[in-house]
Amino acid sequence: MEVIVAETAGFCFGVKRAVDKVYEQIKESPNEKIYTYGPIIHNEEVVGDLEKKGVSIINSKEELKMLKKGIIIIRSHGVDKEVYDIANSNNLKIVDATCPFVLKIHKIVEKEKNNGSHIIIIGNSNHPEVQGIKGWSGEDTTVIGNEEEARNFSMEKPKKICIVSQTTFNYNKFKYLVEIISKKRYDINVLDTICNATHERQAEAKKIAANVDSMIVIGGKNSSNTQKLYEICSKECSSTYYIQTLEDMNLCELQSSSCVGITAGASTPNYIIEEVHNNVRKF
Ligand code: F3S
Repeated sequence: MEVIVAETAGFCFGVKRAVDKVYEQIKESPNEKIYTYGPIIHNEEVVGDLEKKGVSIINSKEELKMLKKGIIIIRSHGVDKEVYDIANSNNLKIVDATCPFVLKIHKIVEKEKNNGSHIIIIGNSNHPEVQGIKGWSGEDTTVIGNEEEARNFSMEKPKKICIVSQTTFNYNKFKYLVEIISKKRYDINVLDTICNATHERQAEAKKIAANVDSMIVIGGKNSSNTQKLYEICSKECSSTYYIQTLEDMNLCELQSSSCVGITAGASTPNYIIEEVHNNVRKF
């Protein structure tokens, strides 16, 4: 059986960097209590392993305010300024694992806000990354995530607008929503801040799925980017499986396949991908 593993499967650069930073801190500071602001990634296995190693999760600013010592690690999604302020005033050591691509958006919106622009973030308003960006763009910000919100957008006193995007937003949808807003004839500066990692992973998965008999997509049940990968692969290959770990896979189902493809969502650790790969190959 031929097995093709996507080169872009698994952690993107920003997530890998964030997870590595947590393990680094565990090694470097064995006597200090380590916290992450929110789960470091959407993966139960990794979060469980970190918990066993003594890393705890802080879920809100209120909880953070209660901490008086330790290390707080900021995950790749980034956070608003208030989180840094609370951590600093409580003398916590901050390890900032915000993805550099997200940090770049923070800088853009802060600068544009100071220049007097209204900021539009194209993205999902409930997503922590968008909430973090909003914390840097200030009150004069609108989050637009769908067609209706784009059509309903208006400004009483028109001023310059700067549009940015959540890094993981779908490019075609971003373009479509920007088109709707552009028709309103405001003075608009559009900055496409979508990260290529997602696009590249999806494009590669699509290509592989179109050329194999069976396709395996590995990732957390709640991971939206894994769900999207599954959707894309299912369209190309009717025999597509969505699994979290090897245990979810009945390898016998691959019996009639001579070529199997494997991809994985952004929060799937390498060892899970390798485990699936090795077992499928042996089978
Ligand atoms: Fe960063 Fe892109 Fe990943 S923004 S966290 S490298 S998806």
